[in-house]
Amino acid sequence: MVYLNGEFVPKHNAYVHVMDRGFLFGDGVYEVIPVYSGKIFRLDEHLKRLQNSLHSVQINNPYSTQQWHQILHQLLDYSSTSNQSLYLQISRGADVCRKHSFDTLTPTVFIESNPLTPKTKPELETGYRAISQADFRWQRCDIKSTSLLANIMYAQHAKQHQVEEVILHRDQQITEGATSNVFIVKDDTLFTHPTSEHILSGITRDLVLESARYCQLSIQETAFSLADLLSADEVWLSSSTREIMPIIDVDGHSINHGILGKYWSQVYDYYQDLKHA
Ligand code: PDD
Repeated sequence: MVYLNGEFVPKHNAYVHVMDRGFLFGDGVYEVIPVYSGKIFRLDEHLKRLQNSLHSVQINNPYSTQQWHQILHQLLDYSSTSNQSLYLQISRGADVCRKHSFDTLTPTVFIESNPLTPKTKPELETGYRAISQADFRWQRCDIKSTSLLANIMYAQHAKQHQVEEVILHRDQQITEGATSNVFIVKDDTLFTHPTSEHILSGITRDLVLESARYCQLSIQETAFSLADLLSADEVWLSSSTREIMPIIDVDGHSINHGILGKYWSQVYDYYQDLKHA
């Protein structure tokens, strides 16, 4: 079952209008929210970011926080899988003709949930590979927009090169991954790009920082270069679906001689505790 505009319907019966601006322009915003043991993880933080995205593009939030809670929980009731990934998107809605500017329309709300199988610790411990590319996305990456053509190009590039992620750099500084935030550890300090219009402020990013603080790792929300990343002791990616993933090779260069550093495991363990708290 999926949720579409006030109704729970089987996915094969869920259709949107051909004039929907989500279809014509990618004119919409979205969230991906993990569910662990049937509990929606950090829902209020995701709803807050959703509200920020909606506000930035002038789409009215169709529901109150309480209504969102109710709808999402009702959708989860249709599934028996305890770990899931909720996908929700709101497009501006269907217009009568295609034009770039807009009038007030009725937003289209679509929500689905899929089983989520995070990688196990032994799997993660094998380490993952990434490649770097220039960040050619727009200047409002803080909006979680459904217009994802650049991210799709990066994801396909990663797939074709059989690596986990493309790590992006703009003006000599690492911004984030195509679908994740990026961290490095150097000399017992954790670095990540500060929140700005050049990155998506990840909910997992905040949790990584919270976990790192608990592990007494000092934190600097400061941008760093590709050279810094290649000479780092540890490189991690974070996202709601990947959680915290160690990277041991970027552009064919081994990170820390391909050996996982000591902090990833501690931060990962604390994150697992937060998930089940
Ligand atoms: N993407 N940066 C970008 C560009 C992302 O697309 C994502 C997540 C993140 C991490 O955000 P969070 O920790 O809130 O998941 C950072 C999701 C998972 C996606 O598009 O499917």
